[in-house]
Amino acid sequence: MILAPSMLAADFGNLQRDVEMVNQSQADWFHIDIMDGVFVPNISYGMPVLDAINKHTQKPLDVHLMIVDPDRYISTFKKLGSEILTVHYEACTHLHRTVQAIKNEGMKAGVALNPHTPVLVLEDIIQDIDLVLLMSVNPGFGGQSFIENTYKKIRQTKELIAKANSKALIEVDGGVSDKNAKQLVDAGADALVAGSFVFNSENPIETIKRLKNS
Ligand code: DX5
Ligand code: ZN
Repeated sequence: MILAPSMLAADFGNLQRDVEMVNQSQADWFHIDIMDGVFVPNISYGMPVLDAINKHTQKPLDVHLMIVDPDRYISTFKKLGSEILTVHYEACTHLHRTVQAIKNEGMKAGVALNPHTPVLVLEDIIQDIDLVLLMSVNPGFGGQSFIENTYKKIRQTKELIAKANSKALIEVDGGVSDKNAKQLVDAGADALVAGSFVFNSENPIETIKRLKNS
């Protein structure tokens, strides 16, 4: 299982320390939440902070854009070190074009679905994408509780991927902890994002190890 700690829950006053912690841990990716205060009711951090993070990271950056009209910034996020760039289905009128633009920049393309968005909307794009990000909370904030309907959506996504012979990975984001990690993997999740559960724990390195081995 791929584990991606969400830097949204890091201590921004000690960002380098927290980046080094993830570097030294068994985590696989850095999950980077970009929020614009329009698509979601919160503003997280933007380019200068990501630039600072990228100077110290030794693992792939998994960038989750919660912004309207993400096409404006695709090449910017490539320059900032993004390896996987995920846009929201709900924020893209011409999703196919957006996905191609991400891939043309040499990044892996992900599409995120809000909790209320049915998996079936991906039917005609699933063969073009590298990752499906299933939101298991409403995007905008860390520390919210996990929505149980996500298990069903993981199974549906798995079926859709198999039917289309797609190689897309399934990532689950929001409210992930040791209480649901194993069940999520059993349901078919390939990657788990964990923010507050990792960074609010006493020993984040140990917590990452525990999640990885669940
Ligand atoms: C929510 C973000 C998540 C968030 C997860 O909008 O997309 O990545 O940081 O945080 P936790 O793990 O605390 O739910
Ligand atoms: Zn996220």
